Amino acid sequence: MNNVDYLRVSVTDRCNLRCIYCNPLGDRGLRDREGILDFDEIHRVVRLCAECGIRKVRLTGGEPLMCGNIADLIRKLAAVAGIEDLSLTTNGVLLGSMAADLKAAGLKRVNISLDAVDRQCYQQMTGLDSLPQVLDGLHKAIEIGLTPVRLNCVVMREHNLSQVTALAEMTRHLPVSVRFIEYCPTSRVTGRADGYVPNAEVRQIIESQFGPLSDVVVPNAGGPAVYFKAQGAGGAIGFISGRSSVFCHDCSRLRLTSDGKIKPCLHADRHYDVRGLLRGGAGDEAIRDLIRRSLREKGRYTRVTSTAEDFLMQSIGG
Ligand code: 5AD
Ligand code: SF4
Repeated sequence: MNNVDYLRVSVTDRCNLRCIYCNPLGDRGLRDREGILDFDEIHRVVRLCAECGIRKVRLTGGEPLMCGNIADLIRKLAAVAGIEDLSLTTNGVLLGSMAADLKAAGLKRVNISLDAVDRQCYQQMTGLDSLPQVLDGLHKAIEIGLTPVRLNCVVMREHNLSQVTALAEMTRHLPVSVRFIEYCPTSRVTGRADGYVPNAEVRQIIESQFGPLSDVVVPNAGGPAVYFKAQGAGGAIGFISGRSSVFCHDCSRLRLTSDGKIKPCLHADRHYDVRGLLRGGAGDEAIRDLIRRSLREKGRYTRVTSTAEDFLMQSIGG
C-alpha cells in the first residue's frame, strides 16, 4: 500500500467542453452554487489534509479555469505549509490568457487534455472547435514554465484512434509527455458510448510507426502512468491502463469532490461528507478525524470492483 500523499480537488463541476467520454450532455444536473465548496472551504480542507500527510495537490474539475478567480485559490494553497507540489488539470481552452497569472500565483505545472490534433476530430470529441486555443495554451504553458507539461488523451475506437500516432509524435518535437488513458465508462449516459481500446493496442500502433519503445523511469512520476520513450524523442509516452490492469495497490490519491465529499476511491461508493462538517461549525480536530478515517478506509482497498457505476467525472475530478 502506497503512502497516500496526493489530493485531487475538483473545484467546479462546470465545463466549457462536452467531451463524449465525460460530459456529452453539457452542464445538466449539476449542483447549484451553494452546494459547491467555496475557496475558503477548500483552503481549510487542504490545510487539514496537509496536516494529515498530504504533500501534493492537483486542481481539477470540471474545468478549473472556468473559475475566473482560480489564481486566488492557487495563491492560498501555495502558501499551505507542507504542500510541495501544486498542479492543475485543464482542457486548455482558457489557458493561453491565464497561464502567466497562474504561474505568478504559485502554480507549478499543468496537465492538458488533448484527444486529437486534427481540428475536426477534436471538435467531434469535445463538442467545441477550440483546438487552436488549446494549442496556444499549450505553447504558453511551456513558454511560461508551467512544466513539465503533460498531455492526456482518452482513446476511443470510433473517434480518435487515428490520432494516436500524431499525438505520440508530439513527444519528438515538444518538451511534453503524452499519456494515453483507457476510457472508463462512468455514468449511464457516457457508459453507452463504449469505444474502449486497450492500451496494448495503442502501444502497438505507436511501435509500428516509431519502432520499439524503450523503458524509461520518469522520476517522481507518482500515480498510475507507466512511461516509455520513442527513439529520438525528448518527451515520454505514458499509458494509464485503468481498465486492462489493476493499479489500486499503487494508488496514492484521495479526492475532494466539488460538492465537498472526500472520496478514497473513484470507483467505490464510500465517501465522507466534509461539507457537512465545514458548514456545521466543526472544529479542526473533527475534520482531521474525518480525513484520517478516509485514509484508513483507503488503506483497505487492494482491488476495487466498481460499486459506483454512475458518477459524473466532472464533479469528482477526472
Ligand atoms: N475515462 C477516462 N478518462 C477520463 N477523463 C474524463 N473522463 C474520463 C473517462 N470516462 C479524464 C481525461 C481528462 C481528465 C480531466 O479526466 O483524461 O483529460
Ligand atoms: Fe470538461 Fe474535462 Fe470532462 Fe472534457 S473531460 S468535458 S474538458 S471536464
